[in-house]
Amino acid sequence: MKFILASDIHANLPALEAFFHYLEKENLSSLPVYFLGDYVNLGPYPEETVELLRKFDGKIYLCGNHDRYMNSEYALEHNPYFSSTDGVRHSHWTRTQLSPESLKWLEALPARHQFDAGGWHIDMVHGRHNSDEETLRAADLETDKNIIYICGHTHFTRNETAGKARILNPGSLGKPLDSDSRASFGIVTIEENSPENPGPVTFDIIRIPYDIDRTVAALEQRNVPWRNGMMTSLRTAVYTDD
Ligand SMILES: [Fe+2]
Repeated sequence: MKFILASDIHANLPALEAFFHYLEKENLSSLPVYFLGDYVNLGPYPEETVELLRKFDGKIYLCGNHDRYMNSEYALEHNPYFSSTDGVRHSHWTRTQLSPESLKWLEALPARHQFDAGGWHIDMVHGRHNSDEETLRAADLETDKNIIYICGHTHFTRNETAGKARILNPGSLGKPLDSDSRASFGIVTIEENSPENPGPVTFDIIRIPYDIDRTVAALEQRNVPWRNGMMTSLRTAVYTDD
């Protein structure tokens, strides 16, 4: 089987549109798409992004930490990513942009999704099991089993073997932080096989250019709080919160 992983869109509508356009152009639209969370915050188009995702028939939409903050006053103001006054202002701004329907949609998203395919067990989370603000550590995982662990959150791609297990991360669609500013997502291919003899797994990372200027201009036009660091990060794909 073949499926697509996309994560950490962060209210970057042009990156999401480029992703859908690529799927159509490359005849990949029939593949299931698993979204790993962080649809909003740190970008200028939270409502448009959620609206487009709600219209799309994604296989699953996991909840990211930033999505969770939108429906929790306490978490919105007390989290590792918005310790500054400007950071909290930014998160509040994102929430004011979201319609009641979109807030409800974000609130209902699951934290984890699991299924079996090609002799593998697939286990998806946004960050780590029991924490959407940290990442998977091989030492915590059942590496003696044929499990494909899938996560997002770090905005870095990951393709590791840990014992019998694999750890995959498609990077970030809307806010890459690995010095490559193009949108990032992944395609998983599992050769069909039996549980006794799981099929080989291939993980292809795809990078696509999108209209970064449009996203940066929207941050300015919409007067998004805390935007300077975001504008730099989008262009350089290096984290900064100045
Ligand atoms: Fe994220």
